[in-house]
Amino acid sequence: MSTPLWEARADLLVVGTGVAGLTAALRARELGLRVLVVTKVAEEDGNTRWAQGGVAVVLPGEHDEGDTVDAHVRDTLVAGAGLCDEAAVAAIIAGGPAAVARLRERGAVFDAAPTGGLARTREGGHSAFRVVHAGGDATGAEVERALLAAASDGRVPVLENHVAVDAVRTPLGQVCGLLVLDGNGVPGVLSAPAVLLASGGLGQLYQATSNPEVATGDGLALALRAGAVAADVEFVQFHPTVLYTGRGARGRCPLVTEAVRGEGAVLVDATGARVMRGVHPLEDLAPRDVVAAAITRHMAGGPGGVDDHVFLDATGISDFARRFPTVHAACLAAGVDPSGEPIPVAPAAHFACGGVVSDVDGRTGVTGLYAAGEVARTGLHGANRLASNSLLEGLVVGTRAAEAVAADLALGVLAKPSASAVVRLPTAPVADRDSLQRVMSRYAAIGRDAEGLAVVGSVLDLSTVDRELDSRRLVEDAALTVAARALIAAAAQREESRGCHVRTDFAERDDVRWQRGQVIRLNPSGQPVLADQVVARGVA
Ligand code: SIN
Repeated sequence: MSTPLWEARADLLVVGTGVAGLTAALRARELGLRVLVVTKVAEEDGNTRWAQGGVAVVLPGEHDEGDTVDAHVRDTLVAGAGLCDEAAVAAIIAGGPAAVARLRERGAVFDAAPTGGLARTREGGHSAFRVVHAGGDATGAEVERALLAAASDGRVPVLENHVAVDAVRTPLGQVCGLLVLDGNGVPGVLSAPAVLLASGGLGQLYQATSNPEVATGDGLALALRAGAVAADVEFVQFHPTVLYTGRGARGRCPLVTEAVRGEGAVLVDATGARVMRGVHPLEDLAPRDVVAAAITRHMAGGPGGVDDHVFLDATGISDFARRFPTVHAACLAAGVDPSGEPIPVAPAAHFACGGVVSDVDGRTGVTGLYAAGEVARTGLHGANRLASNSLLEGLVVGTRAAEAVAADLALGVLAKPSASAVVRLPTAPVADRDSLQRVMSRYAAIGRDAEGLAVVGSVLDLSTVDRELDSRRLVEDAALTVAARALIAAAAQREESRGCHVRTDFAERDDVRWQRGQVIRLNPSGQPVLADQVVARGVA
C-alpha cells in the first residue's frame, strides 16, 4: 500500500485521550494551534479513568505542617531508587500546583476537607498527606470527565476508532504525520508538523493488570520505529493490591487503591499475620516496589502465604463505602464486604516507569515527535514511580509539550507536512499474544532471572512471524512484541535488583555498575537492542 485512501491536516496530532493528551490538546488550542486528537477507541476509553488514588501535589497554604515541594521531590527520588533525573523531578513537581489550579479552572472537582480546602490522603512512599482526590477513589474518572467536557466545545476534535500505525517521516527522518487505520482497516494519513504520543502504557504485556485493554505499548513501538530511543523499560511497576478474584485472573483486574492503606488498612496473610511488619520502616506505606515484592515473597512461601494472594484488612475504616466507592462496588461484585472481612488482593502489572526518552517539554530525539504521560520516560519515575505522581506528570508535561510544539513551530524547526515521504503499511514481527502474556507473567514479572528471561526470548522467537500491520489487533500485537523484547533485553542485562526490577539471581542493588539507565533502540531489522548511550539520572 503506497497510497492512503484519505488525508487530513493539523498543526498538532495528539495520540491518546488520557490526561496528558487532553491537557496538551487544550493548551495547544489556547495557543492557537489546529489540533486533532486520535484514539483507537472511544474518547472516554483511555487509561486515565481507571486511576484511583489522586494527584500528588503540595499546594500553597494547603499542606501538612512542614511539607514542602522539596520534600515531595525527595520522596520521589527515594522511590525512584537512584535512577530519577533530578532536574526533571524538580521541574515537574514544581509545576504541580499550577497544573492542578488549571485543571480546577477547567472544571475538575476535587474532594473537599471538612475543615476547608482540599481533602488530602497519603500513599506509599509519601512522607506527608499530599494526594488530592476526587469522587473518593475516582480521581482519574473526574480528571477525564473534566478534560473531555472542556474539549467538547468543538475546538478539539477527536478522531475515534483510528489506530496510529506509524509515523510519517520526511526523507530526513523528521516526523510530519501519522499513518492510521480506521475500524475497518482502511488506511489514511494525518499530516502535521508535530505528533505528540500520549498513548499510555503497556500493562497488557502481562496476564493480570490494572490497565484496560488499550494499554498495549503502541506509542513505544511507534516511537522506536520512528527512530526515537527508549529507556528504563525494565522497570514495570506492579501495584501491590488489585482485587483477587480467583486463580488465573486475566486482563484488567479492579484496583484497590493504595489510599486504602494510607487511611489505615494493613496487609495480612491467611493467619492474620502482618505482611509488611519488619520489612520496611514505613511498613504498609513503604514504596510500592517494596510492598509488591514483599507480598510476592510471602505468597511464594512465607508463613501463612496462600500461594497467589494475601489480604488487605480495611475493617477499621468506618466509612469505607463513602470514602472508597469504586473499590467498595468492585468488592461487593466479587462477594466481599470490606467493612466486615479482609479483601483478597494480589500484585498486578500497573505502570511503565520507563518509555520513550523525552525531556520535560515532551521533546524526543526525533524532530516533530513528542511524548507525554506514561508512554514517555522523562526521568521523573526512575526505577519505581512514587504513587500518584503520574496524573501530575500528565498535567505538567502535557501543558509543557503543547507549549514546546508552539515554540518549535514559531521557530520554524519542524518539517513542512508537504515534505512527506511515500507512505506504506509497515511489516513487523508479531508474537502470539496469549503466549507472550503467559511467559512474561511467568518469567518477567516480579522476580526474574537469566534463565527465565532467556525462556521468554525463545518463546517469542518461536511464536513470532513478520506481518503487515493492517489491523488494530496486529498493530497492538506488534507493539507488545517490541515492548516485550525491549524489556527482556534490558532486564537480562541489568544484573542487580533495583526498584521494580527484582532479579532472583542478583538480589542486591549494585550502585557501582548499575546506577544508570539503559537505552533501547531498534536495529535495522526491527529488533530492540541496547544502545551505547546514557540518560540523565539523579541520586537517592
Ligand atoms: C492507587 O490509587 O493506588 C494508584 C495510584 C497510582 O498508581 O498512582
